[in-house]
Amino acid sequence: MNKTKSIVVAILAIGLGLTACNTGATRRNPGKTYAPDMTYSRAYDAYTHNPNFADGETSRLPVSGTVAQGHELPDHLVEGDTNAYKTFTTNMRFTDAQVTEGGRLYNIYCGICHGVNLDGQGPLFTSGKFVAMPANLKDPKYMAMSSGTIYAAIKYGKNMMGSYASQLDIKQRWMVIAYIRKIQSENGGSPFTMGAENTETASAPADTTVAAAGTTTETTTTTH
Ligand code: HEC
Repeated sequence: MNKTKSIVVAILAIGLGLTACNTGATRRNPGKTYAPDMTYSRAYDAYTHNPNFADGETSRLPVSGTVAQGHELPDHLVEGDTNAYKTFTTNMRFTDAQVTEGGRLYNIYCGICHGVNLDGQGPLFTSGKFVAMPANLKDPKYMAMSSGTIYAAIKYGKNMMGSYASQLDIKQRWMVIAYIRKIQSENGGSPFTMGAENTETASAPADTTVAAAGTTTETTTTTH
């Protein structure tokens, strides 16, 4: 008899426990909904099925051939087309701060092999852990290399060097190149031409003398 009693008590206790689970904070049933169109989104949420599109996805990819606002125009280089590399260039020009940022990116992504001094003696190579000799970017051969070829090395990699396309977007690649060009120009390379002062549409330098107060003089940029 005692046994039956305790079984009944146990069942009651479990029953109470289960009821408790469906109340208060852990209540699963939302009950009545006062304004269902506010509770349940009528718009298609991201990652939900969408019958309006053939692939059934609500999240859409950009329309092919379009460029999202604030993004750089895509380059149309084709891997291996070295003639195109040679002529490929940019009209982007960079402020000192952007060139410095290019240097920061260089030190993160390239310095480990090419060295912080651009001499090809980065720690990964000098430690013997990486056997391929990275290009010495201060060597006349690389001083004379076209910027488009450097760009292609970043985008596609070169032999033992991997691609950095996923780490550096188009603008960042050119910022790194601007930094390399700047350092090269200070070490016997051609003059640095990617600075903001070389912009075709550059506004008149701050120290331009104005002929007479109140009148503006037309200024033309002399550097191209
Ligand atoms: C893991 C080491 C490593 C890293 C990191 C690296 N490189 Fe290289 N890079 C090399 C090696 C090795 C070569 C020589 C490839 C060859 O000529 O066989 C090379 C070659 C180059 C060349 C010459 C390309 C050519 O056409 O001859 C350029 C320019 C260059 N790297 C730029 C960069 C830049 C810019 C970065 C950073 C975004 C970078 N590298 C990161 C190892 C590296």
